Parts: sequence; structure tokens; C-alpha cells
Amino acid sequence: MNNASIASTDWLCNSNEAIEIQLLQPNYKERFSPSFTYPIFGEHEQIYGFKNLKIKLYYASGSLSTYFNVSYDQKITEITPAAQPDDVMGKIKEFIPNDFITNYDTFLNIVESDSLNFRPMGKKIGEYHIRRNDEVDDTKYEIYKTNFSTPKFKEFHRRLQIFALFCIEGASYIDEDDEKWEIALLFEKKNTSGTQIYNFVGYCTMYAYFYCTRGKLTSVERSLPQNSTLPHDIRMRISQFLILPPYQSQGHGNKLYQSLYQNFLANSLIKEITVEDPNEPFQDLRDKNDLRYLIDSKLLENIQLPVDKQTVEKIRHKCKLNERQMARCLEIYLLRKLN
Ligand code: ACO
Repeated sequence: MNNASIASTDWLCNSNEAIEIQLLQPNYKERFSPSFTYPIFGEHEQIYGFKNLKIKLYYASGSLSTYFNVSYDQKITEITPAAQPDDVMGKIKEFIPNDFITNYDTFLNIVESDSLNFRPMGKKIGEYHIRRNDEVDDTKYEIYKTNFSTPKFKEFHRRLQIFALFCIEGASYIDEDDEKWEIALLFEKKNTSGTQIYNFVGYCTMYAYFYCTRGKLTSVERSLPQNSTLPHDIRMRISQFLILPPYQSQGHGNKLYQSLYQNFLANSLIKEITVEDPNEPFQDLRDKNDLRYLIDSKLLENIQLPVDKQTVEKIRHKCKLNERQMARCLEIYLLRKLN
């Protein structure tokens, strides 16, 4: 029997509501709460043993330097072997690196200095502006490509990975010793009184698999170990794609996806793009963007029913979509034409 099932509800709280996340800069603050905390606190997402429990995870908005604090009005005193208050600090510590700060003033000083000094790591692979009310905002958004050998990236990734658990159902941590992970980082670049300040907006993890046709490796691929770093044809799999809640529904997901897609198209080693376990909002974003590309690039121009397989395969190889996604896009396109 776990704490949640024997506990008086007086001493129970919802772990999603107890956690407050803030992204801070000297004159800027964004707040949100996690959507999921079951990987940390169990499937019921409940914490036992406290009244008015507050768990603060505050981040310097660029470097993600972390302030971590747990406070409450009351902690249960009637403790039985079967009903112990949860070890809140201990449970969260398992999921964050141990370089967090516990003194708020020290943290604010770090927020101040990081806002001046932090610069994204990795290679810049894209940038864009966002249109708001038909006007282009002068804030720039930049995309950087990294992997676990990129200087300073491991430390940064250890701080950011908890956002995947908080925001993506079913997410888990990725292996930082595996060189085949590629990670795209999205930053907002603000120009404040001549100083450039970067805020972390979102990211996408991708894994470079061997590309093999119909489940079969070529003889060259067979001779290479899975962890080979030699150039070979790639099936790129998008694994975790996240725009932080304060930046959602503003077009950043579209822009990040489009930028990554253009990079995949330009890389001759990448033969196919797949997505690991997409949820509904991501599948929606993917369908819309893949379809826009297919239409804008005129790849579907002469498509008519009945569509022969060879024509579809030709298009598919050009746009690098996998079979299932190509079929979805084609179906949506043809249905739209019918309407
Ligand atoms: N439901 C339906 N459609 C959606 C949703 C949603 N919840 N969110 C966005 N869309 C659509 C929009 O209507 C938009 O369509 P449009 O191009 O016609 O305007 C398009 O998708 C993209 O909109 P953006 O504003 O660019 O989307 P956003 O920046 O919010 O990014 C994302 C979408 C990635 C799903 C973001 O909300 C997010 O990170 N959510 C939490 C984490 C998550 O669910 N990640 C995906 C997990 S699956 C995976 O990782 C492979």
C-alpha cells in the first residue's frame, strides 16, 4: 500500500500543482506548472505529509542555472511505518543535477550575471522572426545544433531534461554517453539596451539511425557497428520535441520543425525522417508542415487518382518522409482536393 492510498486527504496534495517553475531574467519572469510529475511522484501525482507545500524550481532563463527550494506550512507529525511523509527533496534530486542553488540571493546574482554572459552552445543552423498582428517582432529566434561532445552542452542538458518529463507524456531521459544523439536548441535573442540576452525556448532531440530499406541493412551497413561514427545513410528519428509552455501557440513549434526539416533535406546522408511516438498536437504540427512543404515545392502538382506506387515512392524519396507519413499527407491532400 503506498502513502497515497492510506493517507488522509488533509495531508495530500497534487504534485503538478505544488511545483512552480519560473524562467527568470533581471526584468523578466515566466511561470508555469508541469503537466506531468508521475515519473517523480508516482502515477497518482500526489505528495503526502504536508500542508501548503511549495516546490520552487526557478531557472536563469538562458543558462538554466537552477534554484531549488521546498517549503510548507505544516508537516505531518503522526507518522506510522505505512504512512511516512514523502521525501520531496530526495525525489526531485534524483532528476536534477546537483549544481542547483539553495540561496535565493545567490541565485538572483547568477541570473544577473548569466543574462550578460550566457551564450548558446553548438552550431547555429537557423534563425527566424515571429509575426505578431501582421508586424514582425524585432526579437530574433536562433536554433543551435549540438551533441554530447559540444563543449558545455552536457551540463546544460542535465538541467533542461526535466522539462521533457514535466511536459511530454511518456518521456524519459536519454543516454548522454551515446554520440548518435543530436539536439537542436531554440533560443530567443533579445537586444536590451545594446546587450544581447538569450532565453531558452525549446528543444528537439534526434537520433541518427542507420538507414536500411524495408528492414534490411546493406552489406556495408551490416559491417559497421551500430555506434559507428563513420558516415553512412541515416534514418533521422525525432524523439522529443518541446516548446516550453510560455512560448507555446506562437508559431515556434512550426518554425523549429521547418528549420530542422530544411536541414534534413540539405543533408545528403539523411534518407528518411521518422518521429518516435508522436502525440496528437505534434502529429498535427507535422501533418500541416509536411503538407505545406509538399504543396509549396510542387511535388504533388501532377498527382491524380489512382496514384501509382512508383510515383509516390519517387516523391517520398525527394521529401524524405517515411511511408506512413507520406501516405497520410497524400490522403489529406487528395481529400482536400475532393472538397
Ligand atoms: N492541438 C492541436 N493542434 C495544435 C496544438 C494542439 N495542442 N498545438 C499546436 N497545434 C497546431 C497549431 O494549430 C499550428 O497549426 P497552424 O500551422 O495551422 O497554425 C501548429 O500546430 C503549430 O503551432 P505552434 O504555435 O507552432 O505550436 P507550438 O509552438 O505550441 O508547438 C508543440 C507545438 C510542440 C506540441 C508544443 O505545444 C509543445 O511542446 N507541447 C508540449 C510538449 C509536447 O507535447 N511535445 C510533443 C510530444 S511528441 C514528440 O516529442 C515526438
